[in-house]
Amino acid sequence: MLNDKIRELIEKSKLKIDSVENGTANDLQKIKSEVLGKNSEINGLMKNMRDIPAEERPAFGQMVNEARKAVEEYFAQAEAKMKQKALRDKIEKEKVDITLPYQFSCNAERGHLHPVTLVENEIIDIFKGLGFEVLAGPEIETDYYCFEALNIPKNHPARDMQDTFYITDNILLRTHTSPNQVRTMEKKKPPIKMLCPGKVFRSDDDASHSPMFHQIEGLVVDKNVTLCDLMGTLEAFAQALFDEKTKTRFRPSFFPFTEPSVEVDLTCSNCGGKGCKLCKGTGWIEVLGAGMVNPKVLETCGIDSQKYSGYAFGMGLERIAMIKYGIPNIKLFFENDVRFLKQFR
Ligand code: PHE
Repeated sequence: MLNDKIRELIEKSKLKIDSVENGTANDLQKIKSEVLGKNSEINGLMKNMRDIPAEERPAFGQMVNEARKAVEEYFAQAEAKMKQKALRDKIEKEKVDITLPYQFSCNAERGHLHPVTLVENEIIDIFKGLGFEVLAGPEIETDYYCFEALNIPKNHPARDMQDTFYITDNILLRTHTSPNQVRTMEKKKPPIKMLCPGKVFRSDDDASHSPMFHQIEGLVVDKNVTLCDLMGTLEAFAQALFDEKTKTRFRPSFFPFTEPSVEVDLTCSNCGGKGCKLCKGTGWIEVLGAGMVNPKVLETCGIDSQKYSGYAFGMGLERIAMIKYGIPNIKLFFENDVRFLKQFR
């Protein structure tokens, strides 16, 4: 049983706690030491023990303990309430009105596609319009797909460590997108009309070469496909990509996987063929390699070279973007300088 004095003390302590209801957490802690601390009245009661007859001491002690517990509980409640209130206030203060209209005056800029992606999309669109399907293949290739099946002999310079990034003797980063000719012919029966864009890797690094760049491969295999089909298709492509006045020039060349092979030049998009700095005065710019699929490659892929023929071409996207936009250095594509990239918005 609590005596009146102690009951009064409890009430007094509670009132004190109540008095800081609207105060800060600090105020509350101050009150705590006042009502429950070393110099508090409750603590003082314990010191009075001496004056109490021995037989009443246990009961008195219990009473004081109960009083302390009551005040402690009351304090804990007040503390919890204060914490809740602080949280509510914080939420209220940080409330965002999501119904307010977006402020367009702020400096956020919208992103846009990279120039290489723009050119890639444009080229894909043109060939899709000519009935090509778009496929993808792995960037990490085997020697077989990258070289062997493409009739590239063991002593060919492309196989040199100096030109190719090898992972093991047999596994490498593809140096061109041509392995996808093989992968496609292994899987599909003619007629085939495929386009394959992707990253390629070569151990090469200067103003017009980057160790990683992009190519697009094209392959058509069917009955009676001729060099004329290749020339007509590439001319239509060049005129769609630049303009109708663009002319094509086919020069004999050599690739182990095409026979005959050609290198394709376009009239310079900068000077229209008159000769300028971009085309080094020649009026022509070399843009891609192509040719009739070597019958050896057809046979390696299980296609009857007596029945079917095909053509293939491969072009570098950075090179085309450099010509199209007049970009002097391939490094600009990969430095991600926003002043450069912004121009392609
Ligand atoms: N793969 C060749 C290169 O990277 C280009 C090419 C593709 C040539 C298809 C002929 C046919 O240089």
